[in-house]
Amino acid sequence: MSEESQAKKGEKLHEGKAKVLFATDRSDQVIQYFKDDATAFNGEKKGSIADKGVANNVISYKLMTILEAVGIPTHMVAKLDDRNQLVKKVEIIPLEVVVRNIVAGSMAKRLGIKEGTKLPRPVVEFYYKDDALDDPLVTLDHVDMFGWATEEDLDTIFDYTHRINDILIAFFANIGVTLVDYKLEYGKLVGGEENGIVLADEISPDSCRLWDMETGEKLDKDRFRRDMGGVAEAYQEVVRRMGLSG
Ligand code: TMP
Ligand code: ASP
Repeated sequence: MSEESQAKKGEKLHEGKAKVLFATDRSDQVIQYFKDDATAFNGEKKGSIADKGVANNVISYKLMTILEAVGIPTHMVAKLDDRNQLVKKVEIIPLEVVVRNIVAGSMAKRLGIKEGTKLPRPVVEFYYKDDALDDPLVTLDHVDMFGWATEEDLDTIFDYTHRINDILIAFFANIGVTLVDYKLEYGKLVGGEENGIVLADEISPDSCRLWDMETGEKLDKDRFRRDMGGVAEAYQEVVRRMGLSG
């Protein structure tokens, strides 16, 4: 029997804003369930995007599979159905790793640079994952001082992140999409025999800024954050361009 047909959904372990984690009968794997709930500005704005969970599940599964195939370790085990993935259990490194190829969002605001300005090279930022503090931007010295990641972890994170960026830029360019910026999360495998850092969480229009290359049209969660309308349609358009079915 394949791993996925054996996976049994157990107790709820954690409910986040967009996903729920469930135990399985294996101590080294969990099920990640994708909701339609959408939040922005640390939960201040709340809503629902029709079939977002289905779209993010299939998009993130595909992107992680591509990355895995070129040697980036990820948490992905299998896509179980429309909204559920079987993933390796990790202890999340409490950092949001944001990669920016083009200035947008908080960088535009913080530094007073026009949204859409191309960066000569990708910029990597770290935010400390703490909702009560609103995920503050932190320096590498903070990361070291407070022990959120070791120097060795950071070397691995930078290496994987730059490789991921090259691959994702090319992948999206091929479907007529500019990868403006996005957020990655890494974790350390727990409960099994393997150890080491893997890419975890999700890569989806919730966590990326994706602009149509020709028109600049936004195909991501900014449509929800900025009340632009056509939110569910934008997620479906990414699914369609990726050659997937929702
Ligand atoms: P920012 O410009 O708001 O800092 O966002 C940078 C990128 O990170 C953008 O693609 C959206 C993503 N992101 C998340 O995935 N989760 C978050 O909580 C935030 C603030 C941003
Ligand atoms: N994910 C964050 C929230 O839940 C912020 C965002 O994506 O804009 O509010």
